[in-house]
Amino acid sequence: MKRILMISTHGYFESKPSFGLPDTGGQVVFVIELSRALAKFGYEVDILTRRFEDFPQIEKVSDEVRIIRVPCDGRDFIPKEYLVKYLAELVDGFVEYCQHNGLEYEFIDSHYWDAGFVGVKLAPIFGVPHMFTPHSLGIWKKMQMQQTSVDTGVGLNNEEEVERQHNFRQRIETEKTIMSSANKVIATTPEQRDIICEKYGISEREIALTIPGFYPDKFRRMDKDTLNKAIDKYKLPPRFVLAVGRITDYKGYDLLIKAMARVVKEIPDIKLLLRIGSDRLTEEEIRKKTELLQLAESLDLVDNILFYNYVEELEAFYNAAEVFVLPSTYEPFGMVAIESMACGTPAIVTTKGGLKSFLKDGHDALLVDPLDTRALAEAILKLLKDRTLHNKLSGNGYKKVHSMFTWATIADRSLKIIKQL
Ligand code: F6P
Repeated sequence: MKRILMISTHGYFESKPSFGLPDTGGQVVFVIELSRALAKFGYEVDILTRRFEDFPQIEKVSDEVRIIRVPCDGRDFIPKEYLVKYLAELVDGFVEYCQHNGLEYEFIDSHYWDAGFVGVKLAPIFGVPHMFTPHSLGIWKKMQMQQTSVDTGVGLNNEEEVERQHNFRQRIETEKTIMSSANKVIATTPEQRDIICEKYGISEREIALTIPGFYPDKFRRMDKDTLNKAIDKYKLPPRFVLAVGRITDYKGYDLLIKAMARVVKEIPDIKLLLRIGSDRLTEEEIRKKTELLQLAESLDLVDNILFYNYVEELEAFYNAAEVFVLPSTYEPFGMVAIESMACGTPAIVTTKGGLKSFLKDGHDALLVDPLDTRALAEAILKLLKDRTLHNKLSGNGYKKVHSMFTWATIADRSLKIIKQL
């Protein structure tokens, strides 16, 4: 049996992902779904991640896909920015595990710079090709943060503080080393591909483009009865605008709340539902959520804003929402907007993220710069008031994502890339 090694070391990597937990987002979907899809081509797939807290060493995702957890530096969660410091231990532990269990791999596919570091170490040990998908780029993230600071006039913390939080120097250096050693670098958007060429000095021949997808069995239009039951269960309001994501500054929830102040003036009964964070918020996340609440209070919007944390049936929220908004000031891709469109809910998508390159403004979705809160409010109002536009975007968005972002297509493409290595 042919075997593939996927590596994704940060966050809470589980077969049923707990989205909203720190460092746990779209990348988990990407890795799990790509693994499942690769398995359909006759492979067994092992996903290597870090073992911490109470997670088991092995977890089955399906008959052919499993998660293998190897410990490094104790039981506590380690943020993705600093994980690399401890990964040499994980590499050694995994090599030992493979020797013990007689495991060999046909190729390695690593995700994000922490896992890329592991991939660079393991590829020569196994003597196999290494494909690296950065998902997000240190240089681009830093540039976007600086641009947002110029656009908003809100200065960034001093250089050292930014460094302390994001570890950009080490990240960018490591990304460069990984990219120049990997056999192929996988960009997830055309913009990313250009930055990998221009800023990381990788030639276009060594880069391929593979876009992320969504869970089609979960994110789809729901029948009325099932949806109504979920609406009752979660006490969802009759009309609401939805945003979904982790709690970090660059998700732009503050901008969306400001935009809602204008929307509510015209449609007083509309709610904004923020399904953000998880049921285990960190201190930092609690502080950020409190700031959002204070902002809502200062704008007299407390009755119009509802906060939800992790929910199992997120598809019901997408289905019940009238409009979905992705207001990030920085977003490597923006999977949640794809999920909402897959459920037939029209999306307003940030122009500051990777997804915009795949969407046609006014046809599949509305594209808006979230820093312009007036424009954001106008886009929301348009979709809430204009039924024809709403139906058009709902239909076109649905078709677009179901035709473009499917894992079968993505796995097929990935295998073609691998076969050429
Ligand atoms: O933290 C969740 C996550 O989705 C990762 O798994 C992903 O690759 C990453 O965000 C991107 O992070 P950043 O742009 O902050 O480096």
